[in-house]
Amino acid sequence: MSRIISISSGKGGVGKTTFALNYALSLAKHGKTILIDLDMGTSSIRNHLDADIPFDLYHFFKKDATLEQCINQLPEHYDPAHIYDDFTYIASPRGFFEDIVNLGYAQKLKLITAINKLDVDYIILDLKAGLDYRVLDFLPRANTGIVIFTPMVPSAVFAAAEIVVALVIRRLRRLFARNSPIYKNYSPKYFQLFKELLNRIEDVYDSSLENFDDFLSQLKEAIGPGPITHYVETVLHSFRAYYILNQFNGLDQTIDKVVKPLSETIRKRVSMYVQLINLGWIVYDDLILESSTKKIPALLMKKEPVKKKDYADDPFKRLELIRKAFLTKQIRHTKLLDLPPASPKKKKIADESKIDPFLNAQLEMLVTMYNESDREQDFRKNFEYITRHSLYIMKNCPYYSFGDKTLSLATPEIE
Ligand SMILES: Nc1ncnc2c1ncn2[C@@H]1O[C@H](COP(=O)(O)OP(=O)(O)OP(=O)(O)O)[C@@H](O)[C@H]1O
Ligand SMILES: [Mg+2]
Repeated sequence: MSRIISISSGKGGVGKTTFALNYALSLAKHGKTILIDLDMGTSSIRNHLDADIPFDLYHFFKKDATLEQCINQLPEHYDPAHIYDDFTYIASPRGFFEDIVNLGYAQKLKLITAINKLDVDYIILDLKAGLDYRVLDFLPRANTGIVIFTPMVPSAVFAAAEIVVALVIRRLRRLFARNSPIYKNYSPKYFQLFKELLNRIEDVYDSSLENFDDFLSQLKEAIGPGPITHYVETVLHSFRAYYILNQFNGLDQTIDKVVKPLSETIRKRVSMYVQLINLGWIVYDDLILESSTKKIPALLMKKEPVKKKDYADDPFKRLELIRKAFLTKQIRHTKLLDLPPASPKKKKIADESKIDPFLNAQLEMLVTMYNESDREQDFRKNFEYITRHSLYIMKNCPYYSFGDKTLSLATPEIE
Protein backbone atom coordinates (compact mmCIF):
# COMPACT_ATOMS: atom_id res chain seq x y z
CA MET A 1 0.00 0.00 0.00
CA SER A 2 1.22 3.51 -0.78
CA ARG A 3 2.33 6.05 1.79
CA ILE A 4 0.67 9.39 1.12
CA ILE A 5 2.73 12.38 2.23
CA SER A 6 1.16 15.83 1.96
CA ILE A 7 3.26 18.97 1.62
CA SER A 8 1.60 22.07 2.98
CA SER A 9 2.39 25.47 4.44
CA GLY A 10 0.47 28.14 6.22
CA LYS A 11 1.57 30.76 3.70
CA GLY A 12 2.28 30.87 -0.01
CA GLY A 13 5.62 31.06 -1.76
CA VAL A 14 7.65 29.35 0.97
CA GLY A 15 8.90 26.51 -1.24
CA LYS A 16 6.22 23.77 -1.18
CA THR A 17 6.44 22.93 -4.88
CA THR A 18 10.23 23.17 -4.95
CA PHE A 19 10.41 20.85 -1.98
CA ALA A 20 7.68 18.45 -3.15
CA LEU A 21 9.24 18.01 -6.60
CA ASN A 22 12.79 17.43 -5.38
CA TYR A 23 11.72 15.32 -2.43
CA ALA A 24 9.65 13.12 -4.76
CA LEU A 25 12.67 12.74 -7.05
CA SER A 26 14.83 11.88 -4.08
CA LEU A 27 12.32 9.31 -2.76
CA ALA A 28 12.03 7.79 -6.25
CA LYS A 29 15.56 6.41 -5.79
CA HIS A 30 14.05 4.25 -3.04
CA GLY A 31 10.69 3.24 -4.52
CA LYS A 32 7.96 4.08 -7.00
CA THR A 33 6.86 7.67 -6.36
CA ILE A 34 4.05 9.82 -7.77
CA LEU A 35 3.97 13.57 -7.25
CA ILE A 36 0.43 14.94 -7.49
CA ASP A 37 -0.07 18.63 -8.08
CA LEU A 38 -3.17 19.61 -6.11
CA ASP A 39 -2.64 23.35 -6.38
CA MET A 40 -5.59 23.62 -8.75
CA GLY A 41 -5.79 26.81 -10.72
CA THR A 42 -2.08 27.52 -10.93
CA SER A 43 -0.69 24.15 -12.10
CA SER A 44 2.43 24.44 -10.05
CA ILE A 45 4.18 21.49 -11.72
CA ARG A 46 3.96 23.20 -15.10
CA ASN A 47 5.76 26.18 -13.57
CA HIS A 48 8.60 23.93 -12.46
CA LEU A 49 8.85 21.37 -15.30
CA ASP A 50 8.95 21.88 -19.02
CA ALA A 51 7.06 18.91 -20.39
CA ASP A 52 4.22 17.94 -22.71
CA ILE A 53 1.42 16.75 -20.47
CA PRO A 54 -1.27 14.99 -22.54
CA PHE A 55 -3.59 14.19 -19.61
CA ASP A 56 -3.96 16.08 -16.36
CA LEU A 57 -6.64 16.46 -13.68
CA TYR A 58 -8.83 18.33 -16.18
CA HIS A 59 -9.15 15.06 -18.09
CA PHE A 60 -9.77 13.18 -14.84
CA PHE A 61 -12.63 15.46 -13.80
CA LYS A 62 -14.10 16.44 -17.13
CA LYS A 63 -13.16 13.83 -19.70
CA ASP A 64 -13.53 10.57 -17.76
CA ALA A 65 -9.82 9.78 -17.88
CA THR A 66 -8.66 7.51 -15.07
CA LEU A 67 -6.10 8.86 -12.63
CA GLU A 68 -3.60 6.29 -13.96
CA GLN A 69 -4.00 7.77 -17.46
CA CYS A 70 -2.93 11.14 -16.06
CA ILE A 71 0.41 9.81 -14.81
CA ASN A 72 3.44 11.20 -16.64
CA GLN A 73 7.10 10.17 -16.82
CA LEU A 74 9.93 12.67 -16.60
CA PRO A 75 10.91 13.65 -20.18
CA GLU A 76 14.03 11.81 -21.38
CA HIS A 77 16.20 14.95 -21.63
CA TYR A 78 15.87 15.58 -17.89
CA ASP A 79 17.23 12.19 -16.93
CA PRO A 80 19.20 10.59 -19.77
CA ALA A 81 20.90 8.24 -17.28
CA HIS A 82 17.49 6.96 -16.10
CA ILE A 83 18.27 7.49 -12.44
CA TYR A 84 14.76 8.71 -11.73
CA ASP A 85 12.74 6.14 -13.69
CA ASP A 86 10.56 5.50 -10.65
CA PHE A 87 9.50 9.15 -10.49
CA THR A 88 6.15 10.04 -12.08
CA TYR A 89 3.75 12.94 -11.69
CA ILE A 90 0.16 14.09 -12.19
CA ALA A 91 -0.42 17.73 -13.10
CA SER A 92 -3.36 19.91 -12.17
CA PRO A 93 -5.30 21.60 -15.02
CA ARG A 94 -3.53 24.17 -17.18
CA GLY A 95 -6.12 26.91 -16.76
CA PHE A 96 -8.64 28.06 -14.21
CA PHE A 97 -11.78 25.94 -13.89
CA GLU A 98 -13.99 27.16 -11.08
CA ASP A 99 -15.47 23.73 -10.35
CA ILE A 100 -12.02 22.13 -10.19
CA VAL A 101 -10.40 24.89 -8.12
CA ASN A 102 -13.30 24.69 -5.64
CA LEU A 103 -13.88 20.96 -5.71
CA GLY A 104 -17.32 19.89 -4.51
CA TYR A 105 -17.92 16.92 -2.25
CA ALA A 106 -18.52 14.38 -5.02
CA GLN A 107 -15.50 15.51 -7.05
CA LYS A 108 -13.28 15.43 -4.01
CA LEU A 109 -14.50 11.96 -3.10
CA LYS A 110 -13.81 10.81 -6.67
CA LEU A 111 -10.23 12.13 -6.50
CA ILE A 112 -9.54 10.82 -3.00
CA THR A 113 -10.89 7.37 -3.89
CA ALA A 114 -8.67 7.28 -6.99
CA ILE A 115 -5.59 8.45 -5.05
CA ASN A 116 -6.23 5.77 -2.40
CA LYS A 117 -6.21 3.12 -5.13
CA LEU A 118 -2.87 4.14 -6.69
CA ASP A 119 -0.39 1.35 -6.22
CA VAL A 120 3.06 2.87 -5.64
CA ASP A 121 5.38 3.24 -2.67
CA TYR A 122 5.13 7.00 -2.11
CA ILE A 123 2.52 9.57 -3.12
CA ILE A 124 3.57 13.17 -2.59
CA LEU A 125 0.79 15.77 -2.60
CA ASP A 126 1.78 19.34 -3.43
CA LEU A 127 -1.01 21.37 -1.82
CA LYS A 128 -2.15 24.94 -2.18
CA ALA A 129 -1.19 27.47 0.48
CA GLY A 130 -3.47 28.29 3.37
CA LEU A 131 -6.04 26.32 5.29
CA ASP A 132 -9.48 25.26 4.12
CA TYR A 133 -11.13 21.98 3.21
CA ARG A 134 -9.28 21.94 -0.12
CA VAL A 135 -6.16 21.48 2.02
CA LEU A 136 -7.54 19.71 5.12
CA ASP A 137 -9.11 16.87 3.13
CA PHE A 138 -5.72 16.02 1.66
CA LEU A 139 -3.84 15.93 4.95
CA PRO A 140 -3.22 12.78 7.00
CA ARG A 141 -5.29 11.99 10.09
CA ALA A 142 -2.76 11.58 12.88
CA ASN A 143 0.03 13.92 11.79
CA THR A 144 0.60 16.95 9.62
CA GLY A 145 2.51 15.36 6.77
CA ILE A 146 5.29 17.83 5.96
CA VAL A 147 4.79 21.52 6.69
CA ILE A 148 7.28 23.92 5.09
CA PHE A 149 8.63 27.03 6.80
CA THR A 150 11.14 29.64 5.96
CA PRO A 151 12.71 32.26 8.19
CA MET A 152 12.02 34.61 5.23
CA VAL A 153 8.27 34.48 6.00
CA PRO A 154 8.00 34.48 9.80
CA SER A 155 4.21 34.85 9.74
CA ALA A 156 3.98 31.37 8.20
CA VAL A 157 4.64 29.94 11.65
CA PHE A 158 1.32 31.07 13.11
CA ALA A 159 -0.65 29.94 10.09
CA ALA A 160 1.02 26.53 10.33
CA ALA A 161 0.11 26.18 14.00
CA GLU A 162 -3.49 26.62 12.87
CA ILE A 163 -3.04 23.62 10.55
CA VAL A 164 -2.17 21.54 13.62
CA VAL A 165 -5.18 22.94 15.54
CA ALA A 166 -7.48 22.14 12.60
CA LEU A 167 -6.17 18.57 12.30
CA VAL A 168 -6.50 17.80 16.01
CA ILE A 169 -10.00 19.31 16.02
CA ARG A 170 -10.91 17.20 13.00
CA ARG A 171 -9.91 14.02 14.85
CA LEU A 172 -11.77 15.01 17.99
CA ARG A 173 -14.91 16.05 16.10
CA ARG A 174 -15.10 12.54 14.70
CA LEU A 175 -15.12 11.20 18.22
CA PHE A 176 -17.94 13.54 19.17
CA ALA A 177 -19.98 12.93 16.04
CA ARG A 178 -23.35 11.17 16.29
CA ASN A 179 -22.08 8.09 14.46
CA SER A 180 -19.15 7.69 16.87
CA PRO A 181 -19.12 4.25 18.57
CA ILE A 182 -18.99 5.81 22.04
CA TYR A 183 -21.91 8.18 21.40
CA LYS A 184 -24.47 5.79 22.92
CA ASN A 185 -22.51 5.53 26.19
CA TYR A 186 -22.86 9.20 27.05
CA SER A 187 -25.77 11.50 27.52
CA PRO A 188 -26.31 13.89 24.54
CA LYS A 189 -25.82 16.82 26.93
CA TYR A 190 -22.15 15.82 27.24
CA PHE A 191 -21.74 15.75 23.49
CA GLN A 192 -23.16 19.25 23.38
CA LEU A 193 -20.53 20.26 25.94
CA PHE A 194 -17.70 18.66 23.88
CA LYS A 195 -18.82 20.53 20.80
CA GLU A 196 -18.96 23.82 22.63
CA LEU A 197 -15.48 23.31 24.05
CA LEU A 198 -14.08 22.48 20.60
CA ASN A 199 -15.77 25.54 19.11
CA ARG A 200 -14.12 27.66 21.77
CA ILE A 201 -10.65 26.34 20.90
CA GLU A 202 -11.29 26.95 17.21
CA ASP A 203 -12.39 30.51 17.91
CA VAL A 204 -9.15 32.44 18.28
CA TYR A 205 -11.10 35.44 19.59
CA ASP A 206 -12.38 33.39 22.52
CA SER A 207 -9.56 33.29 25.06
CA SER A 208 -11.50 31.24 27.63
CA LEU A 209 -10.13 28.00 26.20
CA GLU A 210 -6.76 28.36 24.57
CA ASN A 211 -5.58 24.88 23.83
CA PHE A 212 -6.28 21.16 24.00
CA ASP A 213 -4.61 20.75 27.38
CA ASP A 214 -7.23 23.13 28.84
CA PHE A 215 -9.88 21.26 26.90
CA LEU A 216 -8.76 17.97 28.45
CA SER A 217 -8.78 19.31 32.01
CA GLN A 218 -12.28 20.76 31.54
CA LEU A 219 -13.42 17.47 30.08
CA LYS A 220 -11.98 15.54 33.04
CA GLU A 221 -13.74 17.89 35.42
CA ALA A 222 -17.06 17.44 33.64
CA ILE A 223 -17.12 13.69 33.05
CA GLY A 224 -14.22 12.24 35.02
CA PRO A 225 -11.73 9.75 33.56
CA GLY A 226 -13.10 7.28 31.02
CA PRO A 227 -12.80 6.26 27.36
CA ILE A 228 -13.39 9.80 26.04
CA THR A 229 -10.69 11.50 28.10
CA HIS A 230 -8.38 8.59 27.39
CA TYR A 231 -8.97 9.00 23.65
CA VAL A 232 -8.35 12.75 23.78
CA GLU A 233 -5.12 12.09 25.67
CA THR A 234 -4.05 9.50 23.08
CA VAL A 235 -4.80 11.89 20.20
CA LEU A 236 -2.67 14.61 21.78
CA HIS A 237 0.22 12.37 22.80
CA SER A 238 0.42 10.57 19.47
CA PHE A 239 -0.06 13.58 17.18
CA ARG A 240 3.08 14.54 15.29
CA ALA A 241 3.83 17.77 13.47
CA TYR A 242 6.71 17.54 10.97
CA TYR A 243 8.37 20.55 9.50
CA ILE A 244 11.16 21.48 7.08
CA LEU A 245 13.12 24.70 7.33
CA ASN A 246 13.50 26.02 3.82
CA GLN A 247 15.91 28.76 2.74
CA PHE A 248 17.90 28.07 5.85
CA ASN A 249 20.36 30.90 6.11
CA GLY A 250 21.95 30.63 9.50
CA LEU A 251 20.91 29.46 12.87
CA ASP A 252 20.28 32.84 14.49
CA GLN A 253 17.55 33.70 12.02
CA THR A 254 16.09 30.21 12.12
CA ILE A 255 15.89 29.95 15.88
CA ASP A 256 14.50 33.42 16.42
CA LYS A 257 12.11 33.53 13.48
CA VAL A 258 10.94 29.95 13.23
CA VAL A 259 11.92 27.42 15.88
CA LYS A 260 11.22 29.57 18.91
CA PRO A 261 7.87 31.04 17.78
CA LEU A 262 6.79 27.67 16.38
CA SER A 263 7.51 25.82 19.65
CA GLU A 264 5.78 28.55 21.64
CA THR A 265 2.75 28.71 19.38
CA ILE A 266 2.23 24.93 19.24
CA ARG A 267 2.62 24.65 23.01
CA LYS A 268 0.27 27.55 23.73
CA ARG A 269 -2.30 27.00 21.01
CA VAL A 270 -2.27 23.20 20.71
CA SER A 271 -0.66 21.19 23.50
CA MET A 272 2.50 20.50 25.46
CA TYR A 273 2.22 16.88 24.36
CA VAL A 274 2.12 17.21 20.59
CA GLN A 275 5.40 16.00 19.11
CA LEU A 276 7.04 18.65 16.95
CA ILE A 277 9.64 17.10 14.66
CA ASN A 278 12.12 18.89 12.46
CA LEU A 279 12.76 16.62 9.46
CA GLY A 280 15.64 18.72 8.16
CA TRP A 281 16.49 21.92 6.38
CA ILE A 282 17.26 23.15 2.87
CA VAL A 283 19.78 25.93 2.55
CA TYR A 284 19.09 29.01 0.48
CA ASP A 285 20.82 28.48 -2.87
CA ASP A 286 20.72 30.66 -5.99
CA LEU A 287 20.80 27.46 -8.01
CA ILE A 288 17.37 26.51 -6.60
CA LEU A 289 15.98 29.89 -7.61
CA GLU A 290 17.57 29.48 -11.04
CA SER A 291 16.10 25.98 -11.31
CA SER A 292 12.56 27.31 -11.18
CA THR A 293 13.20 29.94 -13.86
CA LYS A 294 14.88 27.33 -16.07
CA LYS A 295 12.15 24.78 -15.26
CA ILE A 296 14.71 22.17 -14.28
CA PRO A 297 14.26 20.50 -10.86
CA ALA A 298 17.09 21.65 -8.60
CA LEU A 299 18.35 18.09 -8.07
CA LEU A 300 18.74 17.73 -11.84
CA MET A 301 20.69 20.98 -12.28
CA LYS A 302 24.33 20.60 -13.30
CA LYS A 303 26.53 20.32 -10.25
CA GLU A 304 28.87 23.26 -9.71
CA PRO A 305 32.34 22.34 -8.40
CA VAL A 306 32.11 22.43 -4.62
CA LYS A 307 33.78 25.53 -3.21
CA LYS A 308 35.78 24.70 -0.12
CA LYS A 309 34.58 27.00 2.61
CA ASP A 310 36.58 28.31 5.44
CA TYR A 311 35.09 26.83 8.58
CA ALA A 312 35.10 30.27 10.20
CA ASP A 313 32.61 31.51 7.56
CA ASP A 314 30.40 28.52 8.08
CA PRO A 315 26.96 29.60 9.38
CA PHE A 316 26.74 26.21 11.05
CA LYS A 317 29.63 27.22 13.27
CA ARG A 318 27.21 28.85 15.63
CA LEU A 319 25.35 25.57 15.86
CA GLU A 320 28.58 23.93 16.94
CA LEU A 321 29.00 26.58 19.62
CA ILE A 322 25.48 25.96 20.85
CA ARG A 323 26.13 22.22 20.87
CA LYS A 324 29.16 22.79 23.07
CA ALA A 325 27.11 25.02 25.31
CA PHE A 326 24.54 22.27 25.61
CA LEU A 327 27.18 19.76 26.51
CA THR A 328 28.93 21.87 29.10
CA LYS A 329 25.64 23.35 30.33
CA GLN A 330 27.47 26.63 30.70
CA ILE A 331 24.98 28.99 29.13
CA ARG A 332 21.84 26.84 29.37
CA HIS A 333 20.36 28.79 26.46
CA THR A 334 20.32 32.00 28.43
CA LYS A 335 20.62 33.94 25.20
CA LEU A 336 18.13 31.81 23.33
CA LEU A 337 15.55 32.11 26.05
CA ASP A 338 16.19 35.80 26.58
CA LEU A 339 17.07 35.23 30.19
CA PRO A 340 19.50 37.71 31.74
CA PRO A 341 23.07 36.46 31.22
CA ALA A 342 24.51 34.72 34.26
CA SER A 343 27.06 36.75 36.14
CA PRO A 344 30.54 35.42 35.34
CA LYS A 345 31.58 35.77 38.99
CA LYS A 346 28.82 33.66 40.45
CA LYS A 347 29.00 30.94 37.74
CA LYS A 348 25.37 30.22 38.47
CA ILE A 349 23.55 27.74 36.29
CA ALA A 350 20.39 29.25 34.78
CA ASP A 351 17.20 28.53 36.70
CA GLU A 352 15.92 25.18 35.34
CA SER A 353 12.33 26.25 35.85
CA LYS A 354 12.77 29.06 33.29
CA ILE A 355 13.97 26.69 30.58
CA ASP A 356 11.29 25.84 28.11
CA PRO A 357 11.48 22.05 27.68
CA PHE A 358 9.48 22.20 24.44
CA LEU A 359 11.94 24.64 22.87
CA ASN A 360 14.89 22.72 24.31
CA ALA A 361 13.71 19.59 22.56
CA GLN A 362 13.76 21.49 19.24
CA LEU A 363 17.25 22.80 19.84
CA GLU A 364 18.52 19.36 20.85
CA MET A 365 17.02 18.03 17.62
CA LEU A 366 18.84 20.64 15.52
CA VAL A 367 22.09 19.78 17.25
CA THR A 368 21.66 16.07 16.64
CA MET A 369 20.86 16.73 12.99
CA TYR A 370 23.91 18.91 12.68
CA ASN A 371 26.11 16.16 14.05
CA GLU A 372 24.68 13.68 11.57
CA SER A 373 24.73 15.95 8.56
CA ASP A 374 28.50 16.32 7.86
CA ARG A 375 28.03 20.07 8.27
CA GLU A 376 26.97 20.16 4.64
CA GLN A 377 25.46 23.27 3.16
CA ASP A 378 24.78 21.67 -0.19
CA PHE A 379 21.04 21.46 -0.87
CA ARG A 380 21.55 18.03 -2.49
CA LYS A 381 22.88 16.69 0.80
CA ASN A 382 19.97 18.39 2.57
CA PHE A 383 17.49 16.46 0.41
CA GLU A 384 19.43 13.25 0.98
CA TYR A 385 19.29 13.81 4.72
CA ILE A 386 15.55 14.56 4.73
CA THR A 387 14.87 11.53 2.55
CA ARG A 388 16.88 9.24 4.83
CA HIS A 389 15.23 10.73 7.90
CA SER A 390 11.71 10.23 6.57
CA LEU A 391 12.48 6.71 5.26
CA TYR A 392 13.77 5.83 8.71
CA ILE A 393 10.52 7.03 10.30
CA MET A 394 8.43 5.17 7.71
CA LYS A 395 10.38 1.95 8.30
CA ASN A 396 10.52 2.05 12.08
CA CYS A 397 7.37 3.81 13.30
CA PRO A 398 3.70 2.86 12.94
CA TYR A 399 2.33 4.07 9.58
CA TYR A 400 0.09 6.71 11.16
CA SER A 401 3.18 8.47 12.59
CA PHE A 402 4.06 9.99 9.22
CA GLY A 403 1.72 10.57 6.28
CA ASP A 404 -1.12 8.12 5.86
CA LYS A 405 -2.10 5.03 3.87
CA THR A 406 -5.39 6.52 2.72
CA LEU A 407 -7.03 9.93 2.63
CA SER A 408 -10.48 10.53 4.06
CA LEU A 409 -12.86 13.42 3.62
CA ALA A 410 -13.08 15.84 6.51
CA THR A 411 -15.74 18.01 4.94
CA PRO A 412 -18.81 18.70 7.08
CA GLU A 413 -21.00 16.50 4.86
CA ILE A 414 -19.81 13.39 6.66
CA GLU A 415 -19.41 14.81 10.14
N1 LIG B 1 15.96 26.90 -0.75
C1 LIG B 1 15.71 27.80 -1.70
N2 LIG B 1 16.71 28.61 -2.16
C2 LIG B 1 16.45 29.53 -3.10
N3 LIG B 1 15.25 29.75 -3.67
C3 LIG B 1 14.23 28.97 -3.25
C4 LIG B 1 14.39 27.96 -2.25
N4 LIG B 1 13.19 27.36 -2.07
C5 LIG B 1 12.32 27.95 -2.89
N5 LIG B 1 12.93 28.93 -3.60
C6 LIG B 1 12.29 29.79 -4.62
O1 LIG B 1 11.16 30.42 -4.01
C7 LIG B 1 10.14 30.57 -4.98
C8 LIG B 1 8.85 30.00 -4.43
O2 LIG B 1 8.98 28.60 -4.33
P1 LIG B 1 7.77 27.61 -4.61
O3 LIG B 1 7.07 27.91 -5.87
O4 LIG B 1 8.31 26.23 -4.44
O5 LIG B 1 6.83 28.00 -3.37
P2 LIG B 1 5.35 27.48 -3.04
O6 LIG B 1 5.24 27.42 -1.57
O7 LIG B 1 5.08 26.24 -3.80
O8 LIG B 1 4.47 28.67 -3.60
P3 LIG B 1 2.86 28.67 -3.79
O9 LIG B 1 2.29 28.91 -2.43
O10 LIG B 1 2.63 29.78 -4.74
O11 LIG B 1 2.48 27.33 -4.33
C9 LIG B 1 10.61 29.88 -6.24
O12 LIG B 1 11.11 30.85 -7.13
C10 LIG B 1 11.74 28.98 -5.78
O13 LIG B 1 12.73 28.77 -6.77
MG1 LIG C 1 3.46 25.71 -5.07
